[in-house]
Amino acid sequence: MVKAAALMSGMPERPKKGAFMGRLKELRKYVDAEINRMENVDKRTGAIAHLYGVSLAATMIARRRGLDAELLSMAAMLHDLHAYKTGSYDDHAHKGADLARQILGELKLTNEEETDLICSAIYHHDDKLVVDSPADEALKDADVIHHCMNDLSKAVKEKEQARFAALCEEFGMQG
Ligand SMILES: [Fe+2]
Repeated sequence: MVKAAALMSGMPERPKKGAFMGRLKELRKYVDAEINRMENVDKRTGAIAHLYGVSLAATMIARRRGLDAELLSMAAMLHDLHAYKTGSYDDHAHKGADLARQILGELKLTNEEETDLICSAIYHHDDKLVVDSPADEALKDADVIHHCMNDLSKAVKEKEQARFAALCEEFGMQG
């Protein structure tokens, strides 16, 4: 218990249960509705698994690194939405950042600074071989965790190997 308390020190407190619908939940409702428009069942299931998987990984990474878990989880929910909506990964990170800005503008869940953080993370998330801001890096790493750990029978992509190895080291995991 002492160790758990020590780990939690410095972390933002959790709100009490049930008082209001959090903005992550509100964003997820929006994203769920968008994804549910996809006709192909397998692609739809894959999209939901990936967005929620990256969202969870982003929360864990943010908690580990003292970053904003809520904002990074929100970024994760939006990060590949443009690709899922259009069926194309062509420049999907940059186009996805524009789409995220438009959605966040409509939903009014974030202030300007928070919107910028989310959109920057989405904009850079495909640049796995370079290092960007801590928040940008957290979304890249969350994406890599889901790519590499969702199905251990799949080989790790070459461009994600170094990043995945560093994550295994950071989290004390076997790759
Ligand atoms: Fe992704």
